[in-house]
Amino acid sequence: MIERQTIDKIYERADIVEIISEFVALKKRGVNYLGHCPFHNERTPSFTVSPSKGIFKCFGCGKSGNAVGFLMEHEGFSYPEALKFLAKKYGIQIEETVVTDEQIAEQNKREKLLSLTNVAAKWYYDSLHKTPEGNSVGKAYFRERGFTDSIIDKFGLGYSPESRTAFVDFARKQGFPTELLIESGLAVESSGKIYDRFFQRVIFPIHSLSGQVLGFGGRTLLNDKNIPKYLNSPETLLYQKSKILYGIFQARKAIVQNDCCFLVEGYTDVLSMAQCGIENVVASSGTALTIEQIRLIKRFTNNLTVLYDGDYAGIKASLRGIDMILAEDMNVKVCLLPNGEDPDSFSRKLSDKEFSEFITKNQTDFIRFKAQLMLDEAAGDPIKKTKLIINIVQSIAQIPSEISRSVYIKECSRMFEISEDVLLQAINKELRKKNQGSANTEIIKYPSSDEIKGEKITKPVAIFVENNTLEVSERDLIRFLLEYGDRVVFSQKNPENPDDILPITVAEFIVDELEKDDFVPLDSVWNTVFVLFSEAVRKNKPLSSVYFINHPNIQISQKVVDLLAKRYPLSRFWEEYFFDRDDSELQLAKGVQKVVNEYKWRRIKDVQEKLTAKLADSSVTTREIELIMNRLAAINTLKNELAAKLGEKPIL
Ligand code: CTP
Ligand code: MN
Repeated sequence: MIERQTIDKIYERADIVEIISEFVALKKRGVNYLGHCPFHNERTPSFTVSPSKGIFKCFGCGKSGNAVGFLMEHEGFSYPEALKFLAKKYGIQIEETVVTDEQIAEQNKREKLLSLTNVAAKWYYDSLHKTPEGNSVGKAYFRERGFTDSIIDKFGLGYSPESRTAFVDFARKQGFPTELLIESGLAVESSGKIYDRFFQRVIFPIHSLSGQVLGFGGRTLLNDKNIPKYLNSPETLLYQKSKILYGIFQARKAIVQNDCCFLVEGYTDVLSMAQCGIENVVASSGTALTIEQIRLIKRFTNNLTVLYDGDYAGIKASLRGIDMILAEDMNVKVCLLPNGEDPDSFSRKLSDKEFSEFITKNQTDFIRFKAQLMLDEAAGDPIKKTKLIINIVQSIAQIPSEISRSVYIKECSRMFEISEDVLLQAINKELRKKNQGSANTEIIKYPSSDEIKGEKITKPVAIFVENNTLEVSERDLIRFLLEYGDRVVFSQKNPENPDDILPITVAEFIVDELEKDDFVPLDSVWNTVFVLFSEAVRKNKPLSSVYFINHPNIQISQKVVDLLAKRYPLSRFWEEYFFDRDDSELQLAKGVQKVVNEYKWRRIKDVQEKLTAKLADSSVTTREIELIMNRLAAINTLKNELAAKLGEKPIL
């Protein structure tokens, strides 16, 4: 663990404009800087960097973050890697501390395993290039398959010889303990002896984003049905196949440059495509795609094209996985290869140019592809057709963007000869199912805004409360705290000296109001933000969003950046109050009261619902019922108080 003080030092020194300028050409525009977004293709620059806030944001693709977030996103660094990069840049000595014995053990284990896998990769590589057996067997095999030296090098391919203990012998001589060899999966134990897992195979090292070797795949050179064609490292501390994509290290730059990623099935598909000049390609290595893998790709692009061999069963099996990609708001295309061909075999039959053209011409939008595929299958069968429509509707409902959804509705209406309205209804039903019915808008009446006069506000005001969820309401509240926490909006008479008027800040007001009723935020990050504000208020210290934007806990800083960069949709509340950028004291005072009151309503409602649900539970004891009733009564009093304050009883 890098020490907190070191992290603070790094953040203090980090100049976001200087850091990003190393990767993006920035021009000064007013107080900010502007450039072309490195995360998506664009003609007009919409990537802005704010030196005062220390954040970047792209108005085109929505990516945002602080300096460290930029490096993680752009360079694929892990959090500590990004910090170390900056420390080096600014000549800051890294002080590392370790937290618990367990963490030390885990960390050491990781490091030990990494040094072993990296040594192994080098050994397999040398054995391919520098031994007679490697040359005559391994290299000959790659040659026969048409792989060039430069591709073999780029992917660090290797060879494990016929001997059953060659690597194990070497590694032990190097001082690697037997247990570690077994734990890494490179060795296996059999009747008290240890052997190499990989022998007589060509080796595909599997890299992390930053190029560390995490595990291996090995392909047999024998044509024996009893031997598995591919053998992979078992799951280890390093190699967790659900989180890894083969080729991501080599592909990552090209994915960003092309703003698109190709997904294939096998090791050799990746190699062949890279050899054709299509470098933005990764493989799921024969397993079903996982959400972690999708998110890994999403860090670099929103556009994914899946290449399928033309085998029907395989395609059907993977359709479900694609719904998962849609749900991540990625644009998915599908390219079907001729029957019996995989990208490796097919690319060899064409020139590089022909192969690229084939992909460009044959890639179809996923929904269209799926619809056509199923339509063909359902031809002339009305029952099948109904099922198919339901299925497609479910896919479309996964797409977060309403605009994209409506495009597909049009398209499918045409394909299926069904009216758009019917499809729309079906999709809306599906969406409601997904969101557990939160579509209606509730209107709560508060005293009208005419009642507010002057700066001093005695009555809370709000005319409209949309049907926010508790989550959205909490976000509004925190946004208020972060953006306006230090602004003075109220004044209060000093109880000890009535002539003395005390100023009250937004933060003080919010902290006071919520703590009074014991409604501290539920979300763990927002809770932390709130608690820190509460402390700051108590100590009479100023605290601003900059502190959170540069918070060493990446979860906190990223969530705050996302919130401030408005990555979350604006709630109706926010639009109403601030769309015209009126943040005068009066407007703020109105806003802060509204946001607090609304939040309290949500919390009260939430507690009521939970308690009532508990009452209905058949297993509660009489004693518990009593307690629940008491708490319900207390909550009810609170509700009535709030209602009285609001002038009119709100409809809940
Ligand atoms: N795979 C595996 N274990 C197997 C078979 C396949 O892990 N026994 C994985 C490998 O990652 C492989 C991918 O699934 O690359 C696709 O399998 P397949 O299409 O059978 O292999 P190819 O990649 O076509 O390999 P080759 O061209 O070398 O036959
Ligand atoms: Mn193949």
